[in-house]
Amino acid sequence: MSPPNFKNHTQTSESFQPKQSSQQKWSKRANMKEKNKKKDEAYRFRYGNYHQYYGYRNHGQMDSRMSCMKQEWFSGKDVLDIGCNAGHFTLAIAKYFTPSSIIGIDIDHTLIKMAMKNVRHYTTPTYDFEEEDFPVSFAVCHGPIAQMMDAKGRYPAGNFPFNVQFVQANFVLPSDELVDMQDQHFDTVLCLSLTKWVHLNWGDIGIKRMFRRIFNLLRPGGNLILEAQLFKSYNKRKNITVKMYQHYNQIELLPEMFNDYLLKDVGFETCDLIDIPAHSSQGFSRPMYLFTKAASAEMKRKHVFYHYSSDSSYEECDNEELSD
Ligand SMILES: C[S@@+](CC[C@H](N)C(=O)[O-])C[C@H]1O[C@@H](n2cnc3c(N)ncnc32)[C@H](O)[C@@H]1O
Repeated sequence: MSPPNFKNHTQTSESFQPKQSSQQKWSKRANMKEKNKKKDEAYRFRYGNYHQYYGYRNHGQMDSRMSCMKQEWFSGKDVLDIGCNAGHFTLAIAKYFTPSSIIGIDIDHTLIKMAMKNVRHYTTPTYDFEEEDFPVSFAVCHGPIAQMMDAKGRYPAGNFPFNVQFVQANFVLPSDELVDMQDQHFDTVLCLSLTKWVHLNWGDIGIKRMFRRIFNLLRPGGNLILEAQLFKSYNKRKNITVKMYQHYNQIELLPEMFNDYLLKDVGFETCDLIDIPAHSSQGFSRPMYLFTKAASAEMKRKHVFYHYSSDSSYEECDNEELSD
């Protein structure tokens, strides 16, 4: 009698694969799903367009950067806030510093819609509607309604909330020619926590275009308020897209060179450190600078005082728990 043929039934030690239990398979699949979800989210928010940004940055408190803002930069002025997110900083400026007008722009249209809705949180329940015989609940539930315009179809200047507008747009223009065609429209431009996202998504070309566009949009004597992220914080976001990775590796104009670039190449006359507002998370505690365009055509640099990362606590910020 010949021995039974086990050939097809035996497994050598090399080919032996322990069978995965359904529990193991399930957790592997769950891990994959979680990873993909994280990748999708990173991609969705690749512009720093976080929808809960102010929630985790400010925890319902007044933004600490507000304390170093000065009335003279805003009151009666035309202001642009680039990368306004859900509009809380823009709205706080519009309400407390009474600019003649302030436009918040953001690349993310959902954030712009949120910003428009957020206006209602800054209008007090007893807002003028009382005088007009509207119930307070109307303002609370629906936000402000249209106010009387003047004969030229304009709202009274500096009259919150009619001094604020939100617009969806990419501030980075597709060509240098378009940057050169910009007219002077603004007295003050806010560029807060934006540079990293422009730099990673559009590279050195994009950040340079953004700075030059800001300069061209400013009237003589106008101000740029700049809060830039540190280069070391770019690392965490560089792998979101292939383009971002390529841009990251090609960066020559490092953030610590922005101040020199803005003064020497773009043409701002002065640069002053405004402050490094405190924040419980060091990643959010960054220097804020004021760049001023010469009041006359003569672009003479009077004084330069800038400082970058000489403060050790600021240097530490790679250990941040939270930042953008
Ligand atoms: C981290 S948030 C900063 C929000 C706000 N400036 C602040 O500091 O409170 C960056 C914002 O810039 C917007 N953003 C990124 N690239 C932009 C672009 N090219 N044009 C307009 N907005 C942009 C994002 O959508 C996001 O809302």
